[in-house]
Amino acid sequence: MYAFSDKNLHEQTIFIVDDEVVNLKLLDKILTSAGYSNLVLISDPREVLSLYQEHRPSLILLDLNMPGLDGYQVMKQLVSLEDPLLPPIVILTAQHHQEYLLKALEAGARDFISKPFDRRELLMRVKNFLDAHVAHRLVRNQKDHLEELVQQRTLELQETRLEIIRRLGHAAEYRDEETGNHIIRMSKMCALLARKAGWSEQQCNLILSASPMHDIGKIGIPDAILLKPGKLGRDEWLTMKTHAEIGARLLEGNDSDLMVMAREIALNHHEKWDGSGYPAGLKGKDIPMSGRIAALADVFDALTSVRPYKKAWPLEEAVQLIRDNRGKHFDPELADLFLDDVQAFVDIKNAYQDLPEE
Ligand code: C2E
Ligand code: SIN
Ligand code: SIN
Ligand code: FE
Ligand code: FE
Repeated sequence: MYAFSDKNLHEQTIFIVDDEVVNLKLLDKILTSAGYSNLVLISDPREVLSLYQEHRPSLILLDLNMPGLDGYQVMKQLVSLEDPLLPPIVILTAQHHQEYLLKALEAGARDFISKPFDRRELLMRVKNFLDAHVAHRLVRNQKDHLEELVQQRTLELQETRLEIIRRLGHAAEYRDEETGNHIIRMSKMCALLARKAGWSEQQCNLILSASPMHDIGKIGIPDAILLKPGKLGRDEWLTMKTHAEIGARLLEGNDSDLMVMAREIALNHHEKWDGSGYPAGLKGKDIPMSGRIAALADVFDALTSVRPYKKAWPLEEAVQLIRDNRGKHFDPELADLFLDDVQAFVDIKNAYQDLPEE
């Protein structure tokens, strides 16, 4: 079996707990002469717990029959710490009754060393217990370390991905919008609506991250159309409407939850509840819920914002349009959630106002 160097083992802290000072001195002598240098001798069992927190021993040699606090109670205290790295507790005993030994094992003891002590046996077993515990501790630390590393890398990847998404979304809106705050407001409103609709926290975060890409397809629309100050002609409008499918195509082929939802939103954010939307003319709950949520958030924010082709609408008129289109453009349940708490959406609006042009 693989064993650690003696030097490493000799530096491990060992607790010796016995109310009889003669025993403490004897064990101290045996272990010190064998090279162990970190022995903590404890004659008052009531001190074990606080000394444990302080020293983190690798082995505890424990007497059972002690006044004040017996060995069972000491083990109970130690076990209740729920320390995953609790070291082996080895009972020092002159008793050999099976019931007595079983009770100690149940209480958390690893093994026994018989009194009177046989020097060679004692040293051999101390060494084995220390070997096992040091190995256990190394494995455990390594596992913690690896888990931490994986978590950190996953977080980095997620952050990188979110950053790319935000930048892409921003780039898409940037041409037809002054500050790009539309996508921030719109995505926060999506998450708020989703929460009100009972989505899990995780799903709300997902739509928060996925919805900024809803208009990514506008990248494919020429400036002459996208930035046209007035009403679009028939062909211009047909071109404009392709931004939903262009977006869906741009977001295809990645099966992360995030990209799947982003694609779903890009494709469906102009579908309408009554079936009069585009590109597919889906109706009611055939429209994925993410798309229905995005439609409401997008329109409310677009109405109340300046666009090259329109002024910002007064808040009251925008709310009225949502009310009028409940069950027409918008999912009636989502419209109700919005209408029941318009102020929460206005708060988002106000928190991320576009700055006036310089
Ligand atoms: P957008 O400006 O981000 O607007 C998103 C949605 O908000 C619109 O989707 C529409 O449902 C709603 N919306 C925005 N402004 C108004 C408005 O003044 N009145 C009403 N009733 N609804 C409004 P829609 O209509 O599918 O348009 C999609 C995109 O097409 C718009 O995104 C915008 O980029 C462009 N677009 C729409 N109409 C015009 C236009 O008359 N001229 C130009 N240049 N672009 C337009
Ligand atoms: C959810 O209920 O948490 C998600 C529902 C959906 O994605 O449509
Ligand atoms: C938009 O604001 O989304 C488009 C503006 C325009 O097409 O004129
Ligand atoms: Fe759009
Ligand atoms: Fe939009």
